[in-house]
Order: sequence, then structure tokens, then C-alpha cells
Amino acid sequence: MSSAPLLQDKIAIVTGAARGLGEAIARAYAAEGAKVVVSDIDAAGARQVAASLPGAIAAGCDVRVPEQVEALVNTAVSHYGRLDIMVPNAGVAHVAPLVATSYEQWREVTSVNLDGVFLCIRYAAPAIIAAGGGHIIPIASVTAKAACALIGSYAAAKAGVMSLTQTAAIELRAHKVQVNAILPAFIETELVTSHRAEFEQQLNIPDFNAVIAQRQGRYGTAQEVAQLAVFLASGRASFSNGSGFVLDGGVSSSLL
Ligand SMILES: NC(=O)c1ccc[n+]([C@@H]2O[C@H](COP(=O)([O-])OP(=O)(O)OC[C@H]3O[C@@H](n4cnc5c(N)ncnc54)[C@H](O)[C@@H]3O)[C@@H](O)[C@H]2O)c1
Repeated sequence: MSSAPLLQDKIAIVTGAARGLGEAIARAYAAEGAKVVVSDIDAAGARQVAASLPGAIAAGCDVRVPEQVEALVNTAVSHYGRLDIMVPNAGVAHVAPLVATSYEQWREVTSVNLDGVFLCIRYAAPAIIAAGGGHIIPIASVTAKAACALIGSYAAAKAGVMSLTQTAAIELRAHKVQVNAILPAFIETELVTSHRAEFEQQLNIPDFNAVIAQRQGRYGTAQEVAQLAVFLASGRASFSNGSGFVLDGGVSSSLL
């Protein structure tokens, strides 16, 4: 006996969904019956992903820009009539020690990773409340809990995302909006592969992949993140609110 799709006819926005974890989440949501607004600053990439998903639409959006995030939510509501799920996923990293990070680089990382999540919550929450409740699932990082050399601006932003998650959970609980974050360790997406050589050079390690294998056991997969995002959006985690769900092969809770 096959079970009913977990997200049948739910309306979801996923930001940063042209590739990587966002794309995997959009695909997993569509496979569970959701209608997805595939959003990214890379509008062409978003269109390509949306074209392959039943019922999906694409929307270009730079999550740093309040008017664009507001317009993104309005697009979902005007096209589908409601919004049930928001996944603030868009993110970028800059790899350098804090003392070699310029203010502009700091602002770039914190504006996408932290301001962007604030704006997604700020504009999506009223629409989700109007739909009778739903879910906001920020993609934070295990660096919200444990430091990682060379990505201090990223980690600070992700710690801020965890704090926003907790505040939003409490403020929105009475409106039946659950807010839970996902905190992955290293997943082998472009975010990681594009910075691998910088980690090797600046940390003086010959093989970043070998360090990952030793610390995490292996890279996590985008599908593993997406399956947790499905579970959190499905309502089955009904007593979880303001929580950070760690996906890290055990690395943040072990010394060796
Ligand atoms: N890959 C990992 O190891 C890992 C681990 C923990 C957390 N995360 C988080 O998961 C999320 C997705 O990361 P990923 O690994 O898929 O990265 P990725 O680089 O593969 O994809 C990121 C996507 O975000 C989009 N984006 C960038 N700036 C944007 C902006 N201003 N507005 C809208 N979209 C924008 C990019 O175009 C891209 O499609 C990020 O928040 C990242 O911090 C990733």
C-alpha cells in the first residue's frame, strides 16, 4: 500500500533553488505533491529547475533586497492563492581568516545569509498566517554551533539564523506557524567544491576530502537535507519549534 504524498497541494517557496540543496529541496517537495516557487538570484537557473517540476513556477529574487522578497511572496500568493511553506535557503560563503576579511566581504556574507533569512520570515509569515498556519524552515549550518576556521562571517550569520529561528518560533506559535532550522555540516555542493582549494591552501592541508572523511565520515548528500526538509514541512514534527536539526555525521558532538 503506497502512502499519500506528505505535502499534497501545499504551496512552498524555496530560495537559492537553482542548484545545490535548494534544488534538492524543491525536487523533494514536488515529489511529495507540493507546488513550488523555485526562486534564485540566478533567474535562468531557477526557470530550468521549475520547468522540470510539475506545477512549479520560477521567480528571480535577490534575498538581500526587501522589495524583491516581498514581491516573491506576492508572486506565490497571486499565482497559487496561498503560501504554506517558506524555505530560506540562499547562502554564500567567503573563505578567509577574520583579520583578512574586508568589511565589504563581511557585509556580502551576512546580507545574504542573515538579512536574507530575516526578510524571508518578515514577508512570508503574514502570508502563511493568512493560510491558517504552516512552516518556515531556514537552512542554517552546524557552524551556528561549532566554529570552523576561515568562515567566521558565515558562521556568525548562521548563528544569527538560529537565533531568528528561535524568536520567530515563539512569536508565530499562536498563529500555527512552526519555525525549525536545518544545520548541515559539509555537503558536496558547489558552495563547498568552489572553496575546497582555498581551505587546502589557507589551512595547509593536502587533501580537504580526506579531512572531511576523517571528521564527518563522509560528505552528507543534498537528498539527506531534502528529506529532513520534507519531514519538517509535513507537520509530522508537530511538537518541534525553534529547534535546530543537526545533520553532520556526528562531527559537532565528538572530539575525535
Ligand atoms: N553545502 C554545504 O556544505 C552546506 C552546509 C551547511 C549549510 N549550507 C547552506 O545551505 C544553503 C544552500 O547551500 P548550497 O550548498 O546548496 O550552495 P550553492 O552555492 O550550491 O547554492 C546556493 C544558491 O543560492 C543562490 N544565491 C546566492 N546568493 C543569492 C541571493 N543573494 N539571493 C538569492 N539566491 C542567491 C545561488 O545562485 C545558488 O543557486 C546555504 O544557505 C548554505 O549556507 C550548505
